[in-house]
Amino acid sequence: MPAKNHKQWLADPPLQPGEWVDSRVYSDPRIFEDELKNIFRRTWIPVCHESELPNLYDFRTTSIAREPIIVCRGPDNEVRAFLNVCAHRGMIIERRPSGSFLDGQPSGNPKRMTCMFHAWQYDLKGNCVYISREKEGYQDRLCKENVGLRRLRCEVKFGGFVWVSLNDNPIPLEEWCGKPFECLRKSLEAEPLEVFHYHKAIIPTNYKLWHDTNSEFYHDFMHYHNRVTGFNDAYFGRKNESFEHGHVVVGTFEVNYDKYEGFESRAALSFPYLPPNQWYMIDLFPGMNFNLRGSALRCDVVTPLAPDKVMIEFRGLGLKRDTEEERQTRVNHHNSIWGPFGRNLHEDLLGVTGQGATMLPGSEPRRILHGRRENQTIHDENGMRHYYSEWGKWMNRLPRDPAQPYLAPAAADAAE
Ligand code: FES
Ligand SMILES: [Fe+2]
Repeated sequence: MPAKNHKQWLADPPLQPGEWVDSRVYSDPRIFEDELKNIFRRTWIPVCHESELPNLYDFRTTSIAREPIIVCRGPDNEVRAFLNVCAHRGMIIERRPSGSFLDGQPSGNPKRMTCMFHAWQYDLKGNCVYISREKEGYQDRLCKENVGLRRLRCEVKFGGFVWVSLNDNPIPLEEWCGKPFECLRKSLEAEPLEVFHYHKAIIPTNYKLWHDTNSEFYHDFMHYHNRVTGFNDAYFGRKNESFEHGHVVVGTFEVNYDKYEGFESRAALSFPYLPPNQWYMIDLFPGMNFNLRGSALRCDVVTPLAPDKVMIEFRGLGLKRDTEEERQTRVNHHNSIWGPFGRNLHEDLLGVTGQGATMLPGSEPRRILHGRRENQTIHDENGMRHYYSEWGKWMNRLPRDPAQPYLAPAAADAAE
């Protein structure tokens, strides 16, 4: 058929329900607000890694669904998370991205989180330990025992990642994503890991488009490096396995790094228990990714900022015990693929930014096809179908017509 007129362009494709979504899921501001409330405020987010808080009193700040969060390592070595919000009049307590409370600040006592506005102080368990001129202002009506920080659910798990939830009663973390992590658990938990790389990208696209591209490998046609080091029978046989709660695991195969000029095998620095040059990938609903390529682990965490704006934080991790030389090699391996100037990551960013350019808020809805079926292998789009089925449940919206309430997908898709 030649190019289509408007009516033809808007007609449904000859695919099954569940094999496409309406582009408003990526562009509608009301849907975006519902996602923050129904998904991001209710689930677990791996906000950082424990190695980023190596010492007692270390902290990092971040946000989930617009709520400011602080994560800190207490004097008892426990990592805790709180809303970074003062119980007095709502001042943000800590504004630095990271640091230590061990030493005092001009407006803060050592070993305390001090709100600079009126000098209330909290310990690293979130107790309020000081209210300035407490008796004079509150007499016997309110005291420091009556106020404290809002403590958040926080667990260190699956290789030392710090998982936080704004929900006091989330699905238990193990139940949430223990099964997809099985393929990498031994490799990630054999010994302590350490973050050696961090950068972030803030790009004009919807956060789900980033996750979509992580969960399909059909777009390796865009990645020259992946094509020359990968495309072979074992690559095309890689399985996309779906797990409960919308997660997907992309199975492994052997990457031929030396087919790309200037690259080398990752075998000598393989993660524990990982066969040489293998490559597993875990895509967690609603937008986290754990990607182990031989010698380096990459973790992506998305923070949706607007329907057409997302912050993606990229971390690269190696083994804590690395020698200086091993670490440098691992960093080279990581950055030559996934650094801002590597052979792969910027191409993905271009791909999803190009999608974002056609899905601005208010743009005419169109269909986004997720209908490739290839025996649930690497070029099958079952990962996205599985994701949007889960998304529909959390949102009570039908992905192919988001003004309608969610309907369970047909049996064929449910079985994926
Ligand atoms: S707002 Fe924090 S002490 Fe007043
Ligand atoms: Fe990619």
